[in-house]
Amino acid sequence: MQTGTEAAVVRRSGAPRVLVVHYSRTGHTARLAAVLAAELRRRGCDVDAEAIQVERDWNKWLLPVPLLPLLPFLPAYLLSARFRRAWHRIYYQPQQAIRPLAIPDVAAYDLVLLGTPKWLYLSFPVVRWLNTVRGLEGRRIAPFATFCGPPLQVFELEMLFDPLESRLRALGSTVVDRLAVSSNYHPYFFFGEMERLFRYISRKAFQRPLADFTLDGEVGQAEVRRFCDAVCGE
Ligand SMILES: Cc1cc2nc3c(=O)[nH]c(=O)nc-3n(C[C@H](O)[C@H](O)[C@H](O)COP(=O)(O)O)c2cc1C
Repeated sequence: MQTGTEAAVVRRSGAPRVLVVHYSRTGHTARLAAVLAAELRRRGCDVDAEAIQVERDWNKWLLPVPLLPLLPFLPAYLLSARFRRAWHRIYYQPQQAIRPLAIPDVAAYDLVLLGTPKWLYLSFPVVRWLNTVRGLEGRRIAPFATFCGPPLQVFELEMLFDPLESRLRALGSTVVDRLAVSSNYHPYFFFGEMERLFRYISRKAFQRPLADFTLDGEVGQAEVRRFCDAVCGE
């Protein structure tokens, strides 16, 4: 992948300019970002990439602490669209300090793809990126994400993309599409309990193994193709 500096030197004229920016703690969103960058280059786009780096990694057991207030309200959250809309306006979204960006201004790009792991909602470093980067106003932007589970409409997709996309719109961007791929990986707790739970839910809710929704699975790969067609064309 090109860095910002190399990209300034090698520039094909006429091709849509795309920035693929992502944060990844354990590598799954990074892999998806690399696949998307390669797909878009194959379709003739001029792709730059930025990997958001944190100043300091937080202990993995501290990450969920600020997310716990949702737990007692989870049934109401899952059952009521009205409750979700209200919750998304008031919930506390943590941020995490990030290192200086290679591409601090995205105004030159026709399209920005923004990748995040789902940390119940947005990952903390991506929130800081949104509050740091310049040039989002008027940009076309398409978020992409990895999370452990299958693409459950409320618990995975709405919980992540609704708050993310309202932030993007508030910053003046136009959201053109979204992509979600399962990583089939969860860092909690000790014996793969969360992965086992999501594999069970996938069988129950979709009658498909969770592996189908990953980058190596049938549904995951079809989603990647659909997303690339939608944002960049063939
Ligand atoms: C604090 C935290 C919260 C998470 N919340 C969810 C969640 O709500 N749903 C889910 O399926 N996975 C959840 N995960 C798992 C990650 O989304 C998943 O492992 C992701 O693919 C990791 O991406 P990365 O390897 O790019 O960091 C969470 C992980 C962390 C650290």
